[in-house]
Amino acid sequence: MKILITGANGQLGQELQHLLTERQVEYTATGSKELDITDAVQVEKYFAHNKPQVVYHCAAYTAVDKAEDEGKEANLKVNALGTEIIAKACEKYGAALVYISTDYVFDGTRKAGEYLPDDPKGPRNEYGRAKLLGEETVQKYCSKYYLVRTAWVYGKWGHNFVYTMLNLAKTHDKLTVVSDQVGRPTWTRTLAEFVTYLVDGKKPYGVYQCSNDGQCSWYEFAKEILRDEDVMVLPVTSEQYPTAAFRPHYSVMQLSKKTGFVFPKWQDALHQFMDSIEDK
Ligand SMILES: NC(=O)c1ccc[n+]([C@@H]2O[C@H](COP(=O)([O-])OP(=O)(O)OC[C@H]3O[C@@H](n4cnc5c(N)ncnc54)[C@H](OP(=O)(O)O)[C@@H]3O)[C@@H](O)[C@H]2O)c1
Repeated sequence: MKILITGANGQLGQELQHLLTERQVEYTATGSKELDITDAVQVEKYFAHNKPQVVYHCAAYTAVDKAEDEGKEANLKVNALGTEIIAKACEKYGAALVYISTDYVFDGTRKAGEYLPDDPKGPRNEYGRAKLLGEETVQKYCSKYYLVRTAWVYGKWGHNFVYTMLNLAKTHDKLTVVSDQVGRPTWTRTLAEFVTYLVDGKKPYGVYQCSNDGQCSWYEFAKEILRDEDVMVLPVTSEQYPTAAFRPHYSVMQLSKKTGFVFPKWQDALHQFMDSIEDK
């Protein structure tokens, strides 16, 4: 099976490469320098020449706050147009597409319970709107797709909340973290295992949701990250910590457990991750 990973330098792209290497599975992984997904001519040439059969599409514009202003164009270009180009190429060359989306496609304020895959969408920020356009494009142009929504992603390779907290704890005695936004953290390892589980297990094409099990606020997440550090973590409200992009107050997505995949609890995943970076 010929596998292509886009977004090779990103958090998930790198995790997938390590996972497949560990399993001795061959793949090709491309960063934006090798394959710019917004360049239709380049993508067509790549697919015509390499004919991938499975595409783990991990390339994305992920600067959520910048996407509100200076990154608005790049956000749309990469997340909507780039995904459309990849979706059309997958269809043309018969490849299965794994598209990674986000909880930000939902409104994040109106629901008390978990978001189901087919719940009405209502993104409240530019990134969420562009990723939703990406979802629509995948569903419109591609017949063999796994659309996998995730949230609060962290992993060994890249910038993320866990590294930010650990770094801040080195220089601060006290940290304030928002406590009125609740979600589900996702270790890239869990996400990489889940998407390969879908593909390798030939699960039905469609929409899936993947995070670690349980739920927490960013404040609770920070407390767990820093439980062995000598730093005080204090809760603040979103109002006290304004950001350019709107953040949902409750965006817990129902996990796709019916697939048979076991989603590790977020605390277990976090500590396994932290053990794995200890000698990094
Ligand atoms: N991070 C989160 O918290 C989060 C939450 C929900 C969903 N997601 C989704 O999960 C997926 C993986 O996220 P991540 O955290 O791994 O992202 P990431 O670390 O920001 O990596 C994204 C990668 O996309 C690549 N890219 C950007 N523009 C490109 C282009 N025009 N052509 C080719 N590659 C391009 C970049 O590659 P270069 O470095 O080579 O330029 C970058 O390494 C994305 O679909 C994201 O939307 C992430």
